[in-house]
Amino acid sequence: MHRELIPKLGMEQDMNEHLIAITGATGVTGQHLTTRLKAHSLKTRYLVRDAERARGILGENVDLVTADLDDRISLDRALEGVHTLYLNSGHSPVLEEQQTNAIEAAVNAGCARIVKLSGNIDSPAPIPEAHKALEQKIVNCGTRYTFLRPNFYMTNLLYVAAGLKEGDRFTSAIPRDVTISMTDPRDVADLTATILAEDDKHDGQGYYQTGAALSLDQAAETFSKVLNRDIRYDTVDVDIWEDMVTKRGLPSWLIEHQVKMIGFAANGAYSYVTNATQDITGNTPRTLETFITDHAATFTPA
Ligand SMILES: NC(=O)c1ccc[n+]([C@@H]2O[C@H](COP(=O)([O-])OP(=O)(O)OC[C@H]3O[C@@H](n4cnc5c(N)ncnc54)[C@H](OP(=O)(O)O)[C@@H]3O)[C@@H](O)[C@H]2O)c1
Repeated sequence: MHRELIPKLGMEQDMNEHLIAITGATGVTGQHLTTRLKAHSLKTRYLVRDAERARGILGENVDLVTADLDDRISLDRALEGVHTLYLNSGHSPVLEEQQTNAIEAAVNAGCARIVKLSGNIDSPAPIPEAHKALEQKIVNCGTRYTFLRPNFYMTNLLYVAAGLKEGDRFTSAIPRDVTISMTDPRDVADLTATILAEDDKHDGQGYYQTGAALSLDQAAETFSKVLNRDIRYDTVDVDIWEDMVTKRGLPSWLIEHQVKMIGFAANGAYSYVTNATQDITGNTPRTLETFITDHAATFTPA
């Protein structure tokens, strides 16, 4: 067995051969990772908050350890003997504190590598700014690292286009002619698994990942074609949109974040397209047509 000796408090610590600890595995992209990591025959440990719920999502034959990003002690325990930390967690007003706990625990445990899912770190909004600061903390801590920076998940449409469950229109404050490159979370999982499997080939890299760029008018055309209905997109002023999502119960910190992201999107900041999926996984990015086809029931009245 390959053995790495990590000095820790004057002791030598055995490290499992390339054991990968994964956070956020029950989430939008994470839930697609398990089968992909198994296909690469990687040795994994999933850090989850609720083991019973996670077992239901991830299946029976996975190594689960209970840990919470808000609880540093649970992370120290869960990362013992881990070679690589894959760090991913959902939007939160305390994202930076939560992921800082994980980074510090990884350093304390002697992890050799951190792969972090960030997003577009160039946007002047709270979540991207937290990701940018976290990336810098990882660079400064001296471990090997790779950053994944996917653009707008297609699953955001499950929220943006939730109106299609009731009728033929969906609404947001993004201008109708502005294009956004949308990424299928399954492509994010493919890229993540490849990077975790290929180990040091990706050291020091930050990959901006996208699918094709299209406007919400073009998204409406794709919905119409796939669902065989006449679907339209309505754009509204940001203050009207704020009222709408406040009534839907979106927390104020998330509204503040999204208003900034909408302003940035309106200037075309999310229109860029990259070849990361093709170049690294060898697959062409999944199209919006495929995504809608695979989620048709979610957009179809009961
Ligand atoms: N949405 C986009 O368009 C987009 C684009 C690019 C990047 N991103 C980034 O992708 C990341 C994931 O975002 P998402 O909205 O898709 O969320 P998500 O992956 O669905 O995230 C939720 C995951 O985080 C876990 N988690 C939350 N709080 C935790 C805690 N305190 N301790 C341990 N685990 C915790 C959840 O576990 P439980 O099952 O226990 O709740 C779940 O597995 C974010 O960092 C976001 O900035 C998003």
